[in-house]
Amino acid sequence: KKIVLAYSGGLDTSVILKWLANEYGCPVIAYSADIGQEEDWDKVREKGLATGAAKVVISDLKKEFVRDFIFPAYRANAIYEGSYLLGTSLARPLIAKEQVRIALAEGADTVSHGATGKGNDQVRFELSYLALNPNLQIIAPWRIWDLNSRSRLVAYAEKHGIPVPTANKKYSSDANLLHISYEGDLLEDPWNEPEESMFQWSVSPEKAPDKPSYVEIEFRAGDPCAIDGEHLEPLAIMQRLNRLGAANGIGRLDLVENRYVGMKSRGVYETPGGTILHIAHRALETITLDREVMAIRDSLVPTYSRLVYNGFWFSPEMQLLQRTMDDAQAQVNGVVRLKLYKGNCVAVGRKSDNSLYAHDFVTFEADHVYDQGDATGFIRLNALRLRIQALQRNK
Ligand code: ARG
Ligand code: SIN
Repeated sequence: KKIVLAYSGGLDTSVILKWLANEYGCPVIAYSADIGQEEDWDKVREKGLATGAAKVVISDLKKEFVRDFIFPAYRANAIYEGSYLLGTSLARPLIAKEQVRIALAEGADTVSHGATGKGNDQVRFELSYLALNPNLQIIAPWRIWDLNSRSRLVAYAEKHGIPVPTANKKYSSDANLLHISYEGDLLEDPWNEPEESMFQWSVSPEKAPDKPSYVEIEFRAGDPCAIDGEHLEPLAIMQRLNRLGAANGIGRLDLVENRYVGMKSRGVYETPGGTILHIAHRALETITLDREVMAIRDSLVPTYSRLVYNGFWFSPEMQLLQRTMDDAQAQVNGVVRLKLYKGNCVAVGRKSDNSLYAHDFVTFEADHVYDQGDATGFIRLNALRLRIQALQRNK
């Protein structure tokens, strides 16, 4: 037996690393995914080895995360329950995919993760493992061990010489290129406003500059490809938008969401670049998407987003939806100009070589292309059913 553990270097997965090695008496490979969280990877490697890992593997997945996970979802305007931009949900399938690859490469038959038995992450990890390699065994320590409280976990850590982080780690948080999430502690009462000191990324809207910033984002087939006229790789685009958003207090979100397992959970998020991207993309679609295509696409967004949230990234229904979403993006080319100011991100300009916005038709001035008289019959026939019912009623 050989186990590959998704390892962050934090308290939970450090205890899990030790526990797996003790419990199963087999080599455990500690695998960490660099998806843009700020981390001292030398320290993580060191700590993994000191905690008993047979080997530490650190994979840089940043480019793949942006290109193959963030961008496809943002082409689809993915948003869960109307507000959550899916920062954690999109990262889990990628982390799992690389873990499955490492298991194969290292001849491991088992994978393990540190997600609890109450959450979404366990589902996302394990649906992905099973979709990609159904032969792998899965160990989810949180669902089987008796270290089911913070104090027991800490006691186990102390007994085995695992350093326990002090104080400010009170929130359960998850960071990557797209967001930082916070759950737990005082957020568990949905009436409590988050404390300013919790936020690790963005400046508060109150402290943001008193002058607006402007940014121009160019899109090709629904993907951002340039900022202020400068062509950039997907990763550089995300990094640039994150910097801009964080500096202007953009992308803070406070909500109660429905977890897949059935409970409601209070979450607070910082999604600076993702928020800008989402708003810019929608703005460009307003001039480049056909009305009926947009209506059908919009009707699919909740389904698409629920699949991402619930962990079905690697599923046939997801492939079907992604193809449809991408199909709708063929004409989404052009530039959006945004104004960023104290937590607000507003599109103030949009242009496209294939714009469907027809000024000669819509103008309030005189025109030669549209006959206003046509509208009389248009309205009368649209009203036909309504008129017949009214006549019936008034008989
Ligand atoms: N509630 C969010 C989601 O389900 C964030 C989860 C964060 N995960 C974590 N292990 N802290 O996508
Ligand atoms: C966890 O249980 O690991 C965090 C919360 C979640 O997965 O939704």
